Formats: sequence, structure tokens, C-alpha cells
Amino acid sequence: MALLDVFFTICAKALTWLCVFLFIIFVGYCFYIKYIHLKYDHIPGPPRDSFFLGHSPTFLRVIKNDGLIYDKFLEWSETYGTVYRINVLHYVIMGVTCPEATKEILMSPKYPKDLMLYKRLFNLFGQRFLGNGLVTARDHEVWYKQRRIMDPAFSSLYLRGLMGTFNERAEKLMDKLSELADNNTEANMLQLVNGVTLDVIAKVAFGVDLDLLSNKSPFPKAIEACLKGMVYHIRDSSFRFNPKNWPFINEVREACRLLRTTGALWIHDRKAAMQNGEDVPKDILTQIIKTSSTEEIMTAEDEELMLDNFVTFFIAGQETTANQLAFCIMELARHPEILAKVTNEVDDVIGMKQEISYDDLGKLIYLSQVLKETLRIYPTAPGTSRDVHGDMEIDGIHLPGGFTCMFSSFATGRMEKFFKDPLKFDPDRFHPDAPRPYYCYYPFSLGPRSCLGKNFAQMEAKVVMAKLLQRFDFSLVPGQTFDIEDTGTLRPKSGVICNVRHRKYKN
Ligand code: HEM
Repeated sequence: MALLDVFFTICAKALTWLCVFLFIIFVGYCFYIKYIHLKYDHIPGPPRDSFFLGHSPTFLRVIKNDGLIYDKFLEWSETYGTVYRINVLHYVIMGVTCPEATKEILMSPKYPKDLMLYKRLFNLFGQRFLGNGLVTARDHEVWYKQRRIMDPAFSSLYLRGLMGTFNERAEKLMDKLSELADNNTEANMLQLVNGVTLDVIAKVAFGVDLDLLSNKSPFPKAIEACLKGMVYHIRDSSFRFNPKNWPFINEVREACRLLRTTGALWIHDRKAAMQNGEDVPKDILTQIIKTSSTEEIMTAEDEELMLDNFVTFFIAGQETTANQLAFCIMELARHPEILAKVTNEVDDVIGMKQEISYDDLGKLIYLSQVLKETLRIYPTAPGTSRDVHGDMEIDGIHLPGGFTCMFSSFATGRMEKFFKDPLKFDPDRFHPDAPRPYYCYYPFSLGPRSCLGKNFAQMEAKVVMAKLLQRFDFSLVPGQTFDIEDTGTLRPKSGVICNVRHRKYKN
């Protein structure tokens, strides 16, 4: 009995000391947050929802109401000026739209990608996801080594060689659309272009034929699950603790695993082909294999890095382009005069030809303008962020070091200050003689960490659009929303459902 008493007394004392210890930590943390507030509160910004959580309740509210947080960033940029402050716990994020600061920070390798965001993409709910691959690597040396090796797979010489695949895969979409037109069936354009871009990346990056417009595949669903999981994983730290979300979390983990095991299999097959002296393409997969150790013995981390880049290209190389195409089709269907002008250009440059050449793409100038204008209003990868460790000044405001800078091309692309009548879809803003936007238009980001696949994506988009305009008339099925869905990347919520008809040619 006495022994039990001693035990309980020790436990009670330990518990008291633990509570005191936790209380001291809590008070210390509160003082630290107060110190951070005092350090940065001279910078304009929206009122905080709470001392502790800062502005995160606003974000959660927007997500819960199916809204778009980028609309909030736009509203805050317009209300509070070229730099505004957001607090989340002890973190401080500066929303920056000042072109000079955008230039200084994004064009320099001095500012690493933001730790809070990009480290979270390493894993999704405990399952390795983008790891240390090209998009997420923060250390300059680690990133630069990979980028140097990947660059040849995106040289203009190499890209020219991809025209055959772009044509061939886009032709499969035309066959599918032809079938839908013949049967008077509505076309879900987002789903269809998603099939093409996934087909293209699988073929040109990894040498694999998926033929998604004819065959079923688990990849579109897996990619979708990863993207959705990414949004919750990044924006809601409490998400994983709610048992209601566990089935979804398991689905996301399973999807990540599927992508990585597929990567491991395809890499294994390619390596075996290389070892057998077979002639393998110098595609993205070959370059990915080169990004791992050049030593004979490959470490487990080298293997993981290859898979990081495999998943990176599978995701980065597909979704954003498909969403751009779907938004572009949606805007053209809403603007018959622009549709007529771009169709005329396609007729002049391509005529009845089936195989579009690299040189033809250079002549489709108005189509380029249309695609650029699409990304101004709908930047499918809507921004980027960097950590700033030293002090700096933006527009006369002193910013003490130790914050994150967030750049939203969604906000800058829709600001009256930069683009007159910003919600008007007007491709002439990108006329070759028009002044170029000054560090306020960056759908592919800017500087050393800008998109590696920009030219690839725009070549692919042009081939698909040119063939579509050459062969079909399309109109939106009435009653659709023009809202945007945020799945990490931005996509049209409606799916862009169209009625498609064969074009009637004038004699
Ligand atoms: C319309 C299509 C696309 C858009 C709007 C887009 C946009 C972007 C943006 C904004 C970034 C910077 C991301 C960040 O800072 O976190 C990025 C990076 C990247 N993108 Fe794209 N992208 C597109 C298509 C592609 C394609 C087709 C590929 C590959 C085939 C690709 C591969 C990459 C890679 C590897 C990076 C990381 C570059 C680095 O840090 O070195 N992207 N992209």
C-alpha cells in the first residue's frame, strides 16, 4: 500500500513538473509570437483573426466555403499595397506584387525556396512524394546538379524531335472528338486534354505508351488524389488528425506509392535495356537515371532521388498544360470574335495539313498570344515563394530578415494597375509590338528556378489547339460555371463541357 502511495506521489509530482514545463514553453512561445508581431507589425496587412493562429482561420474559411485563396491574395494586394503581411503562428509571409522586388528576389539564386511549403511536399501524409526532386530541392547545389543534367532533354534541338509525338498524340484526341461529334455526344474537354498531356509525358519522358483515350489507367486518378492531398497537407495541419479524413489520406498515400512503384519499375526496365547495350532514347527518363550517383554502387537515397524526379515530371509535366488548354478552350468559346481570328490564323498557316511542323509553330503568333493571355487570367501554377534571411526594403518599407516572400502571378495578372480592365480576355495585350509586362506576369515563374518545361508545354499546347481549331467548331453547353477549382494547380471547375461539330469548309 505504502509502495503504491509513493508511486502515486512520484507520478503526481512528475505530472505537476510536466505541466509547469509545458506551461513555461507555452508562455515562452507566446512571448516569441508577440516579439514577431512587434518586429513586423509596421508592415501593412489585414487584421489577424487570432493572436496565435494569425490569418490561418481566414484561409480555412475560404477553403471550407469552396472559395479561392488566390482571390484573397488579390484583394489584399489591392487593399494593402505592393507588400503586405500575413501571420501564421510565428511565421511571417509577405505578399509581394512590387515588380522591382519580384525581379530582385526571383532572378537571384540567393533566396532559397520557402522551407515551410517545399519541405511539406517532401512527403504526403508520411509517404515520400516529391522529395528532393527538381521542383522541391531547396539547396542550390543539390538543385543545380539535377537541373544541369536535365537541361539537354529540354534543348530546342531535342524538343524539335518531339513534334512527331505531339502530332501523333494530338491526332488521337482528334479521333476521339470526331467520334463524339458524329454521335452528338457532349465532350468533357478538361478530361480529354488531360488524357493527351498524360499520354505525351508518358511517351516522351518515359518511353511508355498509355493511350489513355482508348485505355483505362489508374494514373489520372492517382495524380488527382496526390494533388488534392497536397492542398490539405499544405494548408490544414489538423487535417490528418480527424478520423473522418483517414480513408482519403490512405487513398493519397496509396496514390503516391503507385506513382513511385511505377517509377521504380520503368527505371529498372530502362536500366536493364541500357546494360544490354540497347539503343535507348535520350529522354527525360535517361536523364533522371543520370541525376543519381555516377558511382558504381547506388545508395538508397540515390534511388529515392530518381523516384522523386520521376513523380515530379509525371505531375509537373502534365496537369498544368492540360488545365491551360481547358481554360483556353473555355475562353475561346466565350469570345467568338477571338475564336474566329485565331481559327483564320490556323487556316492560313496549317491549311488542311495533318502534320504540324516546328516551323509552323513559330508562325502561329496570334495563337501564342491567346495562350499567354489564358495564363495571365488563369495561371495554372499560381505562384511561388522564397525565404529571405537578411533585411531588405520594398517600396520604402523596411523588412527585417527572417520572413517568406510569396509571389502570386494570379494576383498580379488580375490587377488593374498592371493590366487595364484585367478580367477582359484580350490576347492583344501580348501583341509582339505591345510593351512587355514588367515583372508582373510570370506564369512559369522567373529566374533560375523558372519552369524547365515552358517551351515543351507551349509547343504541346499549340499543336493540340491548332489541330482542334483546324477541324472542329465547339460551343459551351449552357449553364456551366466559369469558376476555378484549386487543386494545388488551378483548373476549370466545370470541366469545360462542349458540343463539338466538324467544321464546314468554305470552297
Ligand atoms: C502550362 C504549363 C506549365 C506551367 C504553367 C508551369 C509552371 C511552372 C511554375 C510556376 C514553376 C515554378 C514552381 C515553383 O516555383 O514552385 C514550374 C517549375 C517546373 N516545371 Fe513547369 N509548368 C508547366 C509545364 C511544365 C512541363 C510540361 C514540364 C515538364 C515536361 C514542367 C516541368 C517543370 C520543372 C521540372 C520545374 C522545376 C524547375 C526548377 O526548379 O528547376 N513544367 N513550372
